[in-house]
Amino acid sequence: MKREKPEPLIEARGLWKNFGGKQVHKGIDLTIHKGEVLTLMGGSGSGKSVLLRCLIGLERPDKGEIWFRGQDITKLDEEALTDVRKQIAYVFQYGALFDSLTIEDNLSYPLREHTQLTDKEMTKKVKHALGQVGLDGNQLLFPSDLSGGMQRRVGVARSIILGPEVILYDEPTTGLDPYNTKQILKIILDLQKQGATSVLVTHDMSSIFAVTDRVAFLKDGKIRAEGTADEIRKSDDPDLHAFIHGETM
Ligand SMILES: Nc1ncnc2c1ncn2[C@@H]1O[C@H](COP(=O)(O)OP(=O)(O)O)[C@@H](O)[C@H]1O
Ligand SMILES: [Mg+2]
Repeated sequence: MKREKPEPLIEARGLWKNFGGKQVHKGIDLTIHKGEVLTLMGGSGSGKSVLLRCLIGLERPDKGEIWFRGQDITKLDEEALTDVRKQIAYVFQYGALFDSLTIEDNLSYPLREHTQLTDKEMTKKVKHALGQVGLDGNQLLFPSDLSGGMQRRVGVARSIILGPEVILYDEPTTGLDPYNTKQILKIILDLQKQGATSVLVTHDMSSIFAVTDRVAFLKDGKIRAEGTADEIRKSDDPDLHAFIHGETM
């Protein structure tokens, strides 16, 4: 979705994060605009997942601020963060479904935790969320009955069931075949059309350029470059060039 006037939704300012002496983030500044798909790209271990986790308060930066809806997420207690996590969803890399629960129960789980809906209302919500990922009708199956790609889509359905405003996808297509990769990208775009804002971490360049409004390149603990997919592609930053080139070969 191209917007004339980008409206900041999440603003990360001066994030620093250190793990056991390893400085992962060294002053990250990043703005996520309402309604966009922003791709975060960077080498393995560059701190992409840590950054996503900071955005929902699963990780706290050592220094810096993350502003979302008038609040600095980094300062919130667990109770307030629970509320933030209803509005910002995290799609785990491997779907992270409960193997012993049916698809229906996997999807009802967040509803039971966070809402007062009746069983009938939950059934309806589950049906709707599964429909969004093209998997309505599989409610009574178990995760092991589904292919890896379908499990990943169920994982997305579970993440969006509370109707979040922002969805963070951590390598949602890694390891998937082209068909399921396409399905996931279509889901990302469909949800964007319905108003969602998305942050996508991926190594797959063709995915990036297929669905992204903007790209941010994480390198040496900072956002080294930021721009539209086209600007990023044409960038003369040697590290960025090497990264893009290396990944598409
Ligand atoms: N909980 C943790 N404890 C210690 N080190 C961590 C932790 N989480 C991440 N790291 C380290 O931080 C760095 C960045 O990790 P990560 O964000 O997962 O990278 P990626 O860009 O591949 O997603 C890595 O060196 C990783 O080992
Ligand atoms: Mg990661």
